[in-house]
Amino acid sequence: MASTPTLFATPVAAAPAQHTAAAAGSRTPMLKISDLRVAYGGIQAVKGISFEVLEGELVSLIGANGAGKTTTLKAITGTQPVAFGGIEFLGRDIKGQGPWDLVRQGLVMVPEGRGMFTRMTIVENLQMGAFVRDDDKQIEADIENVFGIFPRLKERRNQLSGTMSGGEQQMLAMGRALMARPKVLLLDEPSMGLSPLLVDKIFEVIDEIHRRGTTILLVEQNASRALQLATRGYVMDSGEITMSGAARALLDDPKVRAAYLGE
Ligand SMILES: Nc1ncnc2c1ncn2[C@@H]1O[C@H](COP(=O)(O)OP(=O)(O)OP(=O)(O)O)[C@@H](O)[C@H]1O
Ligand SMILES: [Mg+2]
Repeated sequence: MASTPTLFATPVAAAPAQHTAAAAGSRTPMLKISDLRVAYGGIQAVKGISFEVLEGELVSLIGANGAGKTTTLKAITGTQPVAFGGIEFLGRDIKGQGPWDLVRQGLVMVPEGRGMFTRMTIVENLQMGAFVRDDDKQIEADIENVFGIFPRLKERRNQLSGTMSGGEQQMLAMGRALMARPKVLLLDEPSMGLSPLLVDKIFEVIDEIHRRGTTILLVEQNASRALQLATRGYVMDSGEITMSGAARALLDDPKVRAAYLGE
């Protein structure tokens, strides 16, 4: 995966090397969620959760269907109203800000279902990803970098994205998010619906993006893979965070293994 570093955030020295909360403790919080509550009508989907993502971390948020993971990401990115609680990005309160403003500041989400512009080509979708930027000259180079990560997209650059396979759409969604040069990337179930080979490829790319310095919050039902890549993890169940810790410790925890790793 040879490409210039421009597409990625400034690398944090040895970011993935230390997988302990203590090592993470010396770093700056990029994202800080405090007592977040979100409801759909009378139904509380998120019931007062708190967590943070520190600079250079890859944090995995795992949990069963309906736990409230997507709702949490939507609340952070301003597409779902927040009933109560605090959301800070880079030390600033961002509650109530919309997704476009947040992308401009470097908080970028790849949604569940991917959210392509289906009537645009691959190249047009990638250009849209860079709409918040004004450095036109770099955009072409960044598109080439995305093609370096996902050669499949290059082969099909003029294909309408709506006609691509699920795996190709996931690659495009991630490529488009990178075009915004995110400081924090929020990924909602990137491996969902992909063949085993593509699942491998997607996790490999997530690892690569992280190692090059982008901070990542990864929501996944594939708990095993998500925790293997992560610095730390949080387990969400019925709208609450029930466990948290170093990813390695969660992977080894008998309760996590029984409930989420199919053992
Ligand atoms: N638009 C909505 N209106 C009403 N209820 C909703 C809405 N979206 C989600 N919910 C409910 O909120 C709860 C949390 O849903 P959410 O999509 O956040 O879960 P999730 O953890 O992302 O699940 P999955 O792993 O299946 O994607 C669920 O009970 C869901 O039915
Ligand atoms: Mg979800």
